[in-house]
Amino acid sequence: MDEKVQIVIDGKSYDFPVIIGTENEKGIDITKLRGETSYITVDNGFGNTGSCTSAITYLDGEKGILRYRGYPIEQIAEQSSFVETAYLLIEGELPKKDELSQFSQSFTAHADLHKDMISSFSGYPQGGHPMGLLSAMICSLSGYYPELLAPEPSQEEMKKTAAQLLSKVRTITAYTYKQSLNQDFVPPRSDLSYIANFLHMMFSTKEKEFPIDDIIVSALRSILILHADHEQNCSTSTVRLVGSSWANMFASISAGVCALWGPLHGGANQKVLEMLEEIHQAGGDVQKFIDKAKDPDDSYRLMGFGHRVYKNFDPRSIIIKKRTHELFDKLGIHDPLLEIALKLEEATLKDEYFVKRKLYPNVDFYSGLIYKAIGIPTDMFTVMFAIGRMPGWIAHWKEMKENPKSKIGRPRQIYTGATERPFVPIDQR
Ligand code: ACO
Repeated sequence: MDEKVQIVIDGKSYDFPVIIGTENEKGIDITKLRGETSYITVDNGFGNTGSCTSAITYLDGEKGILRYRGYPIEQIAEQSSFVETAYLLIEGELPKKDELSQFSQSFTAHADLHKDMISSFSGYPQGGHPMGLLSAMICSLSGYYPELLAPEPSQEEMKKTAAQLLSKVRTITAYTYKQSLNQDFVPPRSDLSYIANFLHMMFSTKEKEFPIDDIIVSALRSILILHADHEQNCSTSTVRLVGSSWANMFASISAGVCALWGPLHGGANQKVLEMLEEIHQAGGDVQKFIDKAKDPDDSYRLMGFGHRVYKNFDPRSIIIKKRTHELFDKLGIHDPLLEIALKLEEATLKDEYFVKRKLYPNVDFYSGLIYKAIGIPTDMFTVMFAIGRMPGWIAHWKEMKENPKSKIGRPRQIYTGATERPFVPIDQR
């Protein structure tokens, strides 16, 4: 028999169906709640609200499990490439060799930016935050590809838009960096792999080719894969919400970039490094900063700690920490900020405040140290996150479009303002 949940309101009981996921997660389907009872539910921060069903990513925050399309993140991060992971997330299955090569070729074909788009980089103020430029540039792609804006795109059109976004996000990022340095743009090369091409556009100059180091490519590969999707987080939910109005994929993902920017979400990676630098400058006393974060009268938080869903450990942070050690060992890097990060983690693991609230290092805690070692400037860390998250945003937008039951996202509210009162003309107030 199908499971049901009864809700009793004013002595009358109402039955609501239970939706059960493939991992036995259960949700009460309250679609008919308001129609039948005139009540709505209130859930600040949506901590208990499922906005959709999805077959892309499974995570269990209590057990620290994360899987893309059923495959454990540990195995993907170890054995897959970023392009293959993107294919898996977007198309639903691991690609065969010819499918992967076609998918990769579509990136090569779309890596260049239109010359008018290139000239618009110079209109952005020098020193302006790169996330503002990234969001604007992604949205402006809609102007260059009007044939890809259909409210109900075909599979072919979605594939083309996805390829544009996945490929061009690298070029936009690299050109943003070059613009910040007042350096000439370095065009993409068709003979390089996804990540090598990105590093080339970022760090080669007219005079000198950047030597592609496999160790750096491998560290970046892991980090991008670990960021590739994380189900209904703030930015992905934004992409779905914007897309639910039938806004095109470029516009929806540009909105996702803005949601990611916030320091409580993807912007945390920049803030973590700034925090570690601040602790270093202040003499390295981590306890002072821990005490500040614990002070109920101070809104200060330890950046890179805590997660809405993970209440045990964030499996991504464990892999990134391992990669950080590997990269530093192989490149012979000694960074005092890594020592501070380790001390901070160790101290919080023993601290009752953090233990009680289940606050552990999240994905953003160690990632900045890898970006720093590669030479990526601090204000571009969240842009790197956006490159990584692109496959997830695309996969969710596509999944929403393909679901015939998708509806425009439109939450309700409980009004708490003034009740009806007569308007008072200005000279009588
Ligand atoms: N430092 C100190 N205290 C914290 C921290 C932190 N980083 N995070 C949460 N807390 C405390 C809160 O003050 C609160 O304490 P209280 O119960 O005494 O009031 C309790 O822990 C619960 O915190 P909430 O804000 O209710 O938890 P929520 O699930 O809403 O927020 C979030 C999760 C936003 C990630 C939060 O932990 C945070 O601000 N972390 C720092 C920013 C960060 O690293 N963000 C990146 C997250 S990963 C990602 O988005 C990619």
